[in-house]
Amino acid sequence: MKTYLVTGGAGFIGSNYIHYMFHKYQDGIKVINVDSLTYAGNPENLKEFEGRENYLFIKEDICNKEAIQRVFQTYEIDRVIHFAAESHVDRSIRNPEVFVSTNVLGTLNLLDAAKLAWETEDGYKEDKKFLQVSTDEVYGSLEEGNNYFYETTPIDPHSPYSASKASADMLVKAYIDTFHFPANITRCSNNYGPYQFPEKLIPLIINNALQGKKLPVYGDGKNVRDWLYVMDHAKAIDMVMEQGRLGQVYNVGGHNEKQNIEIVNLIIETLAELLPENDPRKAHITKDLISYVEDRKGHDRRYAIAPDKIRSEIGWAPETMFAQGIRLTIEWYLKNSEWMSHVTSGEYQKYYNDMYQ
Ligand code: NAD
Ligand code: TYD
Repeated sequence: MKTYLVTGGAGFIGSNYIHYMFHKYQDGIKVINVDSLTYAGNPENLKEFEGRENYLFIKEDICNKEAIQRVFQTYEIDRVIHFAAESHVDRSIRNPEVFVSTNVLGTLNLLDAAKLAWETEDGYKEDKKFLQVSTDEVYGSLEEGNNYFYETTPIDPHSPYSASKASADMLVKAYIDTFHFPANITRCSNNYGPYQFPEKLIPLIINNALQGKKLPVYGDGKNVRDWLYVMDHAKAIDMVMEQGRLGQVYNVGGHNEKQNIEIVNLIIETLAELLPENDPRKAHITKDLISYVEDRKGHDRRYAIAPDKIRSEIGWAPETMFAQGIRLTIEWYLKNSEWMSHVTSGEYQKYYNDMYQ
């Protein structure tokens, strides 16, 4: 049985990945989830796995060198899937330091611990691998047109968040090049789906609309993101882990570019359709809630992934069309209002008030 060390498994993508893996492999794998539970980590996302023999949660900071080395000494780790990060661009503009410490130094710490545990006299123990979960934002920004991010596109990050992810990627690359360390890097476009913290566009708009609050759209609303349903990302990570050529980078995305304002309009329309006639919230969910606000500093105009390499080498392609995925997502948030009220209490309220006043 393979043992997976998942970092940041209590966050949005990490928890969906753990759901995906237990659904796919059942009791055929063991998952150790190391997460320090920042504001973005929520163990409630994984409550159905608590108590299972093949699931272990360790509340720990990936920057804690001794604790991370102890995890590798205590358990025979076969795969590391490294999600743990500070992940929100707006927060990185306000407070970049923690992005460097978690995303850069935390990644270095994990690389060192894995290298130490896996090294042999003439290489590494067999069938060990580290996967760095990265982002298309490391490539910078595209203008409108038929141009895309390829794995060969120069790294050109603009925000403190993307700069910290690019730095982490460069460290993984350095370990591959210098130590022949067994690793892959995936660079995925924007994810959406269940369990996403409502500081990111899609859950924030759903949550605000349901509460009759303004829907903040940055700048002219025409910035473009390339959206992927989170379970398609989870599947891509698993496929790269099993089939990716050592040392390679794989872009993950599904050619699903949308302007932010299109997304906001679609959420309004879908909510209006899904809420029952007698629901009092239905009347106020209209386009009148849209509020154009000051643009994000250094706002990247457009992201668009070319997923040709992962498709031709590994056979991955997205399975969830956007129309279906966004409906599933909105239905999930409607059904899980308690989840939303738990995560929006406390710290989030303070952040929201500071950010949007
Ligand atoms: P998230 O913010 O929802 O979750 C991050 C998780 O990491 C949380 O559970 C948090 O508690 C944990 N964490 C943060 N600092 C930690 C530390 N020092 N030690 C241990 N745990 C810590 O993020 P997400 O959206 O799930 O993103 C996961 C990964 O995927 C990130 O590396 C991100 O860069 C990458 N990514 C995200 C997207 C996206 O659209 N969300 C797209 C591409 C890549
Ligand atoms: P976000 O979800 O923060 O992801 P990222 O910045 O990593 O792509 O933002 C997605 C897009 O939506 C981005 O262009 C910024 C925009 N946006 C808004 O217009 N309003 C908002 O309240 C938020 C959070 C984002």
